[in-house]
Amino acid sequence: MFNFEFHNPTKIVFGTDTIAKLDQLVPANARVLILLGGESARKNGTLAEVRVALGAREVQEFNGIEPNPSYETLMQAVELIRREKLDYLLAVGGGSVIDGTKFVAAAVPFVGEPWDILTTHGQVVTAALPFGSVLTLPATGSEMNNGSVITRKASHSKLAFMSTHVFPQFSILDPTKTLTLPTRQIANGVVDAYVHIVEQYLTYPANGMVQDRFAEGLLLSLIELGPKVLATPNDYDLRANLMWIATQALNGLIGAGVPQDWSTHMIGHELTALYDIDHARTLAIVLPANLHVRRTSKHAKLLQYAERVWGIRDGSDEQRIDAAIAKTAEFFEAMGIKTKLADYELDQSAVDAVVAQLEKHGMTAIGEHGDLTPEVARQILTAAR
Ligand code: NZQ
Ligand code: ZN
Repeated sequence: MFNFEFHNPTKIVFGTDTIAKLDQLVPANARVLILLGGESARKNGTLAEVRVALGAREVQEFNGIEPNPSYETLMQAVELIRREKLDYLLAVGGGSVIDGTKFVAAAVPFVGEPWDILTTHGQVVTAALPFGSVLTLPATGSEMNNGSVITRKASHSKLAFMSTHVFPQFSILDPTKTLTLPTRQIANGVVDAYVHIVEQYLTYPANGMVQDRFAEGLLLSLIELGPKVLATPNDYDLRANLMWIATQALNGLIGAGVPQDWSTHMIGHELTALYDIDHARTLAIVLPANLHVRRTSKHAKLLQYAERVWGIRDGSDEQRIDAAIAKTAEFFEAMGIKTKLADYELDQSAVDAVVAQLEKHGMTAIGEHGDLTPEVARQILTAAR
């Protein structure tokens, strides 16, 4: 196992009727900005509950953070906060709203051009406004991590930053607030969480016994509950489990002390930036092809994955690996998510375009060994056609 430091300061408040606890979680004298996506939190009553819980505090709203939040939109929130001297942020929504809030929190005190936060992947961040979140979509893990992914529309750039300054102080996870999610977003959440686990697990053996078993437990839970949550969309316990699994999938615990890949995400981000495909759907396209192309360097872990997650014990090594990759793609398809570029009406020109974008963004040596070059990315995307 590698040396590591693990510190996660985010307080989780989990369960039904927990939004009322905002009154204890947000400082009484805070000047609050609630950050929101489109209409969902207003329509399903979540926003009204939040406003009641915040009581007499001074509260303003910033609406319209879009899926794959944009720098262009978020800079308007930065201006509003500076102008109105607001000092506490509350994200109410999915990963996009929380990611956007992280960027805003870091951008407000930042001296200089805030886009540098993204181009340096967070290295220039030295302070951020405090914030909390009310999560309405289980998927990204943003509610309990210090990562954020922001898109600059003008240049089709979708870049990530991380900083210890942008952990949420708290996140409220009320599974009943996810009951209004459309099927498409539930499926996206299951697949995004699944791929987060795979990025931290399916690399090469590092003797992280508990990390492996924990990751396998989370994967098995998603395989078990994914189809059920689609079939019985009003089941509280399924929603509660999905919510807690998605948080655990990317709160740093399973990735501590073990190698991490993240190449499926880096390639997927380019597909979203160029073609506006939902984040999870880009992962479903890239992951099976990525595992196929990099099967030699992932050999040992692919066999472990085949046996422990899919129960595949028969056949040669290569047959078991093929079967595990096929099962992975079948699971995504069973969640209603297509796994080939052609399913999204993309052809060879998309392969060329994504490879060019990876080069432009300096993503030329990615993956757990830093050996995923643009040429390997081309092989992966070609295999994903
Ligand atoms: O905008 P509204 O009207 O709120 O609707 C949203 C949006 O259209 C809707 N929604 C959210 N909660 C709802 C709801 N609809 C009905 N009922 C509810 N309770 O769902 C749609 C999608 O929301 P979004 O926040 O975009 O989805 P998600 O949570 O999947 O976030 C995706 C973003 O997170 C980034 C992705 O790249 C993408 O930009 N990621 C962030 C990560 C992180 N911070 O660690 C890691 C991930 O790998 C990922 O890259
Ligand atoms: Zn993701």
